[in-house]
Amino acid sequence: MPRLTLQYPIRTLDNQLLFPPGTFLTKEMLDAVIYSHGAYSYQAYPLLLYGSVKEDCLNFLSNPPYETIFSDKKEVNDLLNILETVHLSIPILQSLDYFKQHDFYTYSHILMVFALSTLLARDLIPDYQECIQLSATGPTHDIGKICVPLHILKKTTALTKNERGFIEHHAAAGYVLLNYYYKDIQPLACKVALDHHERRDNSGYPRGIVLNDPLVEIIAASDIYDALIIPRPYRSTAYDNRAALEEVTKMAEHNKIGWDVVKALIAHNRKSKFPYREIKISAEKRGTPPSYNVYGIIDEGEKTDSED
Ligand SMILES: [Fe+2]
Ligand SMILES: [Fe+2]
Repeated sequence: MPRLTLQYPIRTLDNQLLFPPGTFLTKEMLDAVIYSHGAYSYQAYPLLLYGSVKEDCLNFLSNPPYETIFSDKKEVNDLLNILETVHLSIPILQSLDYFKQHDFYTYSHILMVFALSTLLARDLIPDYQECIQLSATGPTHDIGKICVPLHILKKTTALTKNERGFIEHHAAAGYVLLNYYYKDIQPLACKVALDHHERRDNSGYPRGIVLNDPLVEIIAASDIYDALIIPRPYRSTAYDNRAALEEVTKMAEHNKIGWDVVKALIAHNRKSKFPYREIKISAEKRGTPPSYNVYGIIDEGEKTDSED
């Protein structure tokens, strides 16, 4: 059970308050909330058949910036066979509706992390069942963002410290929400939601632990890469693909994520489809990161209550 103090509230989409801010989360408290709605279990539904998810997924896969990675038709068909196995319960699927309606970037990000992490999992995870299990965690890795106010998620200028804290809250919020919806049937999805921003050198959040789980790392790497190559509210121009891959490479060089997942990602970006273990990575950095980028910059001009 992770030791966590929740700085912000955790609510479901139908506005049930699961935990108020300031809660020190214990196993007993989590269990009490998880089992507060008794033995009721939600009906699961195939994700790809929900709304326009399959059509949207295929659209994202076949257009820039992803068309190179997903250019091999046979590989995409094999990938779809795995994606089709993923079933999610209705309240979790409704979180996708929420993002599609209110924050389209997060909606497309969730679907691309789902597809990309599954593609990488096929290279990196020898066990097919484990690969399927990991695939089911991509669509829920950012579900905690339903607890972050939309004006913060979509803010185009530097975040205040409080707003940054709210964004980082999505990891713990996702962990609680998935425990609430899944009870104990999907521990990997709960773990991924909590730990996908942790890093090997313990520089991540929410707990600053050493990330040493290769499955979580596949989601983490897919998450980072997608965040770089798609325009974001805080960075209107995306990284070009070379600069994005160089950023991910730098993270491996600084021991934030592992080399295997980085090599697998780079291998899928090369036309010569060598096995990822055989590829050579140049130390030279030639990409050009975008000029406007306020990611990681804290707006120090934040007013305290007493200044208002
Ligand atoms: Fe996240
Ligand atoms: Fe994410």
